[in-house]
Amino acid sequence: MTKLWQVNAAEATPEHPAVRAAAEMLRRGEPVAFPTETVYGLGADAGDTAAVERVFAAKGRPADNPLIVHIADPSQLDGLTAPPDDTARALMAAFWPGPLTVVLPVVPGAVSPRVTAGLATVGVRMPDHPVALALIAAAGCPLAAPSANRSGRPSPTRAAHVLDDLAGRIGGVVDGGSTGVGVESTVVECRPGGRIHILRPGGVSAEALRLAVPGAEVTSARESAAGADPQAAAAGLAARAVPVAAEADAEAEGTPKAPGMKYTHYAPKGHLTVVTAEPGDPSGRTAWINRELVRRKAEGERTGVLAAEERAAAYAADTVIAYGPEGDPAAYARGLYDALRAFDEAGTTFILAEAVDEAGLGAAVMNRLRKAAGGRVVRAVP
Ligand code: TXA
Ligand code: MG
Repeated sequence: MTKLWQVNAAEATPEHPAVRAAAEMLRRGEPVAFPTETVYGLGADAGDTAAVERVFAAKGRPADNPLIVHIADPSQLDGLTAPPDDTARALMAAFWPGPLTVVLPVVPGAVSPRVTAGLATVGVRMPDHPVALALIAAAGCPLAAPSANRSGRPSPTRAAHVLDDLAGRIGGVVDGGSTGVGVESTVVECRPGGRIHILRPGGVSAEALRLAVPGAEVTSARESAAGADPQAAAAGLAARAVPVAAEADAEAEGTPKAPGMKYTHYAPKGHLTVVTAEPGDPSGRTAWINRELVRRKAEGERTGVLAAEERAAAYAADTVIAYGPEGDPAAYARGLYDALRAFDEAGTTFILAEAVDEAGLGAAVMNRLRKAAGGRVVRAVP
């Protein structure tokens, strides 16, 4: 049995009875899911190897993928990581609490080696959610917490999503309502010379990082090609399409990335393809998508489209989900995982999702869409 507690964000304190009960469960070594501003996390005492192993087991997560450690106060970095350099300090001052994870050298023995997957570094963040902060404080220890989904599934943005994936597999869920940002934190590493290297795009955009540390160079890890074959994706479509490769590497050298980024992720059960428009021609894409839908329906597919609300009514799919207004990547981010899960619930077998510009949060949205689609990104040819 998985226990479910409701905690209103406005009333969350470490003394709240439900927060205390959840913290006691964590101290007993049982995994507990809780809301953050990005997605729900599945927490365990970061120093308790047996508890952390239960998190990996509940998720079915590969052991070589390290967990992010969540703290309630920057002072909890003492004894956990090496002292952050000036750049890391500036980032924490600008974005904590918030959706930024900073990878720092770990103090040997400070957390279970299962948390770091044996690396010499640990990713740390202070979440911007009253329930998360109250729970970490009540537990009295940093909480290692990956997203609270079964490995490979879309991340949970509501307690119901957590229960869909993990009911009966974890000790409890603290329901604090829907999360805000909708995509996970940005994971960065501060390199010598004041360089900020993005290992995973997320809730803090590259533009925001640049603004927060004037003069800093911001680079990005190359996206994994795992499962990606845009060429085959284009060939498999009935309507004519051009394959679109992931953004080129920002650096020539072979760059380490967040280990988790190599796995197929966030995937709905249906076959998802991301469709970009010819520059300045969104209506050409709409016509293209509708032609493709007609053929797929004739083949017996149950079809879905994820699109800007301005165009939602123009699509002839069985299920059309509007992500929000065109040009609003923050709205797309908020609703993305919920939409992917909704397609599953509708039994959708063939999904086309509109691509967005990679500015601001659009970079994180496109990163997650590409992964959910196994790399199938095509440009509609009128
Ligand atoms: O917003 C978030 O970050 C959510 C909430 C729950 O905080 N958490 C989350 O955790 O997304 P997870 O486990 O789904 O993703 C953690 C990512 C993985 O890509 C992992 O490889 C990377 O962070 N990561 C963790 N520790 C790392 C390290 N020491 N070096 C490089 N990457 C690391
Ligand atoms: Mg995850």
